[in-house]
Amino acid sequence: MTTIKTTDQLDPTVFVIFGGAGDLTWRKLIPAMFDLSQDRSLPEKFAIIAVDRIKLDDAALRHRLHEGVNQFSRFGKARAAAWNQFAAHIQYQPGDFKQLSTYTALGRQCANLEKQWGVKAHRIFYMATPPAMFGEIPKYLGRAGLARDREFARIVIEKPIGHDLESARALNAILAASFDESQIFRIDHYLGKETVQNLLAFRFANPLFEPIWNRRYIDYVTITVAEAVGVEHRGGYYDHAGALRDMVQNHLMQLLCLVAMEPMVSFEADEIRNKKVDVLHAGRPIHRDAVPQSAVRGQYGPGRIAGRKVPGYREEDSVAPDSQTETFAALKLFVDNWRWQDVPFYLRTGKRLPQQASEITIQFRAVPHRSFPPEASLGWQPSRIVISIQPEEGIVLGFQAKYPGPKMQLRPVEMRFNYRQSFAAPSPDAYETLLWDVMKNDATLFMRADQVEAAWVWLMPVLEAWGATEPSDFPNYPAGSWGPEEVQGLLDQGHNWPLPTAMTVFGKRKGKRP
Ligand code: BG6
Repeated sequence: MTTIKTTDQLDPTVFVIFGGAGDLTWRKLIPAMFDLSQDRSLPEKFAIIAVDRIKLDDAALRHRLHEGVNQFSRFGKARAAAWNQFAAHIQYQPGDFKQLSTYTALGRQCANLEKQWGVKAHRIFYMATPPAMFGEIPKYLGRAGLARDREFARIVIEKPIGHDLESARALNAILAASFDESQIFRIDHYLGKETVQNLLAFRFANPLFEPIWNRRYIDYVTITVAEAVGVEHRGGYYDHAGALRDMVQNHLMQLLCLVAMEPMVSFEADEIRNKKVDVLHAGRPIHRDAVPQSAVRGQYGPGRIAGRKVPGYREEDSVAPDSQTETFAALKLFVDNWRWQDVPFYLRTGKRLPQQASEITIQFRAVPHRSFPPEASLGWQPSRIVISIQPEEGIVLGFQAKYPGPKMQLRPVEMRFNYRQSFAAPSPDAYETLLWDVMKNDATLFMRADQVEAAWVWLMPVLEAWGATEPSDFPNYPAGSWGPEEVQGLLDQGHNWPLPTAMTVFGKRKGKRP
């Protein structure tokens, strides 16, 4: 993770996208690349080779990608001159991902570009394909000799990394057979979000918070990643994944690691990743018999969101009408170490919840002694820190203050830091940050093999227990609610799932209290 990126220069690069005609390329990768070209400038010697199975030519592909940029670029519609200049760097190469000839042709194309440029270029192979291809492409790249150069060849893989521990290990082994770990960039786009990165700055660049960031002062932590959207057009994938695999194993686990990790000694990629892995290794194992006390799953039925009727999960496209897949997951986890012993980490995520809100709440303990008379402190709330990731980026500190007037009365108040208000610079999209880092060969924000596996190890008992018994009550929450009722049962006495703060603090209060 580099901080003053605008002054950094990138070396000549060939960026190969497998699945170059697919949705991820159209929706995320090319808009992010285009935005980078506008914001930080890409190298002159730069090419994007989009590889896919369908018949297309350069012009047709560029036309399609242009439309994606117009929809998804953070700068809005692309100006013709800017787009044409960028699009000139994109080429299409049809090819079957399971044919060696596709890779040898690719090798020739890269070599031609390098010859034309008169320099050796970095070659980045991005797998923007369905997960079924993740185990194939690295093998062919290896066979074609395209993985060999440790300094110049890199592979990028999107989550999900495996479907469970065993398949994740198998996939990591396939990657390791052709690539060195230093060449493998496993993307979790949550790590590219500004507030997520800011967690490190907040915790370790300020002497204020770290001394109280432990079990002595913190009562519990909640991590909420709520989505108002349903599965949209991704039912085919999602119905085989579910919320635990799709969100918890990666995005929520990353957030937990950043909240719970020990201070890093340096900003080296492996130093930070080591500290995160330590958290996962300290995860208290969940016994299979105790899964009902530690985890709750749910699936949405029909309901209403923002006044609009929405269908239930089983009515969505490409979803089985009797699907048992969970669209909501909540967990109570513990990190067994000196800092966090017995502090519950409550995690929840779900689709079709009342509003989009990704937040971490650090709830502090009550003061050891209340010296104010009871009438002064009606409504007393222990201090808390809310780190808001979406839809607004910011941090809120909630504490007690004296209400104005002759009497001593306490009321909860808030201090707010909002990214948009504090900094003139707009936040880049997560993919911009991550693609830039891949090109800079900086792996800080990417998942290492051992980290992915450690997260699976922690969650496997839940997956196994859920896989062994079909839920009898699905769908068990209506769209537009905060998930199944049983989620309250995970909480210790006096603990709460907080109302999303972003809406109350940065904008108008919306949504119902959970
Ligand atoms: C993806 C999941 O990784 O993250 C999706 O597969 C989810 O199901 C998405 O909707 C959420 O990302 P964001 O950035 O919109 O919070």
